Amino acid sequence: MEKILKENRQGERMMQIRKMTMADYENIYALWMSCTGVGLNNLDDSKEGIEKFLNRNPDTCFVAEEDGRIIGVLLAGNDGRRGYIYHTAVHPDCRNKGIGTKLVNTVMQALKDLGINKTALVVFKRNESGNAFWEKMGFTERHDISYRNRIINEMIRYDL
Ligand SMILES: CC(C)(COP(=O)(O)OP(=O)(O)OC[C@H]1O[C@@H](n2cnc3c(N)ncnc32)[C@H](O)[C@@H]1OP(=O)(O)O)[C@@H](O)C(=O)NCCC(=O)NCCS
Repeated sequence: MEKILKENRQGERMMQIRKMTMADYENIYALWMSCTGVGLNNLDDSKEGIEKFLNRNPDTCFVAEEDGRIIGVLLAGNDGRRGYIYHTAVHPDCRNKGIGTKLVNTVMQALKDLGINKTALVVFKRNESGNAFWEKMGFTERHDISYRNRIINEMIRYDL
């Protein structure tokens, strides 16, 4: 999906949602580090880890950019059946202006274009604002299932 969304706020600032590239890595990592509620680790979120993810999912990872500054990011991928969203973040100075909503709408359309029928994500229970945001975005909580996983390679987690 090559569509680029541009907005002119009060005739001054131009915000666009565009696909992420590896040239954005340092800026998006700094953005994640400025947030609470995001869970990073030393393997998947290293430059090599993100590059691997981006190579597999080149059409479903997006950034929000304003005047050349990365102010939002959302990674999504799919396994041919479900879409999965990771690491959604908007810079603390730029929240509650609809940027998160635009990122979500853009990725949901991109996943739909790829033929994906349902998208999932995980949020820390303690992240009340994150859970409120996802509820607003229409991502309902499942009370009938338990999330389980098993480690293949040991990783160091940074739960922000
Ligand atoms: C969650 C986050 C991405 C939302 O981004 P945003 O650009 O501020 O979101 P939007 O402005 O598009 O808000 C969309 C809706 O979510 C609601 N919402 C957003 N932040 C909220 C909060 N802290 N508490 C309650 N509701 C919230 C808004 O009220 C809005 O609904 P409305 O339009 O009816 O008012 C941003 O707050 C963030 O980066 N948080 C830190 C990282 C994080 O927790 N990520 C999500 C978990 S992975």
